[in-house]
Amino acid sequence: MDFLFFSFLVVFFCLFLFSPSTNACERCLHHSKAAYFPSEADLSGGACGYGSMATQLNGGYIAAGNPALFRRGNGCGGCYKVRCVDKMLCNSEGVKVILTDSSRRVNRTELVLSKKGFMAMAQKGLAHHLMRLKMVHVEYKRIPCEYKNKNLSIRVEEGSRNPKHLTLKFLFQGGQTDIVAVDLAQVGSPIWEYMTQRRGPIWSTSRAPTGPLQLRVVVTGGSSGKWVWAETEVLPAEWEVGKIYDTGVQISDVAKEACLLPCERGSRRE
Ligand SMILES: *[C@@H]1O[C@H](CO)[C@@H](O)[C@H](O)[C@H]1NC(C)=O
Ligand SMILES: *[C@@H]1O[C@H](CO)[C@@H](O)[C@H](O)[C@H]1NC(C)=O
Repeated sequence: MDFLFFSFLVVFFCLFLFSPSTNACERCLHHSKAAYFPSEADLSGGACGYGSMATQLNGGYIAAGNPALFRRGNGCGGCYKVRCVDKMLCNSEGVKVILTDSSRRVNRTELVLSKKGFMAMAQKGLAHHLMRLKMVHVEYKRIPCEYKNKNLSIRVEEGSRNPKHLTLKFLFQGGQTDIVAVDLAQVGSPIWEYMTQRRGPIWSTSRAPTGPLQLRVVVTGGSSGKWVWAETEVLPAEWEVGKIYDTGVQISDVAKEACLLPCERGSRRE
């Protein structure tokens, strides 16, 4: 029943999203400006709730996004490719960053990168020149996240109390989708309990079944929703706060975006 309702919601949403004035693309190319955080400490914590772990995600190549990218937390964990358009100073490759925080839109800056991320856009030997600019014109697009050696994982968050109170944070979500629903059940049981999204990647329930627990999530992929099932045990009966558990599944779907500009063709620079 929930799923049917959800499917209607997704179809409706997509019809609305892909109105005639927009283009359904794998990715939209955005033109904006990017700045950087002067200190690494500014990136620790953050609106996505990654806490001190934020600076270790993606090797420290992370970013804060304006409200349109942050999407009230749904944008957390999304991957972006950013490159600065100044050919004298910047390389054509750009940098891949993960969204871990929200930023205000100051001076039309849509992204604020970690220093490491910002410097990676520079040509060899010119990173310090780039830093002096403080803000540069960039081109950026959302890209699928790739985790070669990681499955979608969940961290049991502080405040969880076995057995009923469980708060989970999703980590290492591959592909280019949003998680829009999360259910839990005791392994083998047909009775699923839904979780409520708290903020961004954090979901909770005060009615967690007793473990061991299995998990299923709905992601928006392409033009419809899709269940991703962890068929086996994800959390043991004695789950522990602060521990990260591997779900044994990974997501690789790419949800289309509605772009105002025509879709990007190829990736040659011009
Ligand atoms: C925005 O740009 C103006 C003019 O370039 C500059 O004076 C101001 O400091 C900038 N604001 C921020 C917060 O960077
Ligand atoms: C991901 O999950 C599969 C089981 O579905 C497992 O075999 C594999 O080792 C896991 N990968 C990692 C990197 O943990």
